[in-house]
Amino acid sequence: MITLTTTADLRQQVRQWRMDGKRIALVPTMGNLHQGHLALVRRAKEMSDRVIVTIFVNPMQFGEGEDFENYPRTMSEDSSALSEIGTDLLFAPSVAEVYSRPQQLQTKVEVPGLSDILCGSSRPGHFVGVATVVCKLFNMVQSDIALFGQKDYQQLMIIRHMVDDLCIPVEIVGVPTVREKDGLAMSSRNGYLTEQERRQAPELYRIMRNTAAEIESGSKEYARLEGKAKQALEKAGFSPDYFSIRSADDLAEPGDSDLNLVILAAAYLGKARLIDNLRTHSSIR
Ligand code: PAJ
Repeated sequence: MITLTTTADLRQQVRQWRMDGKRIALVPTMGNLHQGHLALVRRAKEMSDRVIVTIFVNPMQFGEGEDFENYPRTMSEDSSALSEIGTDLLFAPSVAEVYSRPQQLQTKVEVPGLSDILCGSSRPGHFVGVATVVCKLFNMVQSDIALFGQKDYQQLMIIRHMVDDLCIPVEIVGVPTVREKDGLAMSSRNGYLTEQERRQAPELYRIMRNTAAEIESGSKEYARLEGKAKQALEKAGFSPDYFSIRSADDLAEPGDSDLNLVILAAAYLGKARLIDNLRTHSSIR
């Protein structure tokens, strides 16, 4: 595996692969890799000839008082794991390499509407940071495809909108969420959980599945189901941020005729802010 830290070196390598007619895949990450990230890399390998993984903890997507400083940085373990599964190139730039200007002078990418709801309303500016860095990575790498996890459903939708609106020539591929045996969605932030919290954590997914079961058996009382789920979360020791049933197509609040739904939730358990989502289908009455 080649490891590079500058855009100039990265571009030179990509140019070479392109001249050789290789199809290139990009998997952007913030590191502290787990099986969820590695599933993206494995899928990328199936779909391309060369896989580039980026590890960059992006300061622009962390708000004031969030965990940028403490975000787990495990470069040597990450590098071994990536090399073991046949990653071709690891790109791990410094903050100065990605952001040459102070934040207030940096050009920003904003996907309106979608960025202001759900996680965006509790984390103002977060999705501007995500869209900006992902746009920069797309321009740095210029891959044919880029893979993202469905675990971050809202992020995936925002990236698809950005690519569409800005005519970025990259194909976006969504990869299903990888879970622990007990149902907890894998996440770098699960490491913040104490042993006791780790045992409680799978309740989030269990409550989402119960809600999905009620929807699938015909309930369209979404507000009541959301309230009930929030109560169940509180009872299980979480501080819910949101628990929302939305249209899977545009994340709008669903009407009776919306059949393609997604349940999205964010909740604090101790220091960890856990997010998860589950696609579900309502039926015509
Ligand atoms: P990070 O949280 O490191 O996640 C990198 C990619 O891995 C994202 O596409 C995310 O959706 C995916 N992922 C995380 N956990 C997953 C799981 N359990 N199953 C499947 N995929 C999973 O998301 C980011 O970084 C950043 O916002 C980034 C896009 C890199 C921009 O900075």
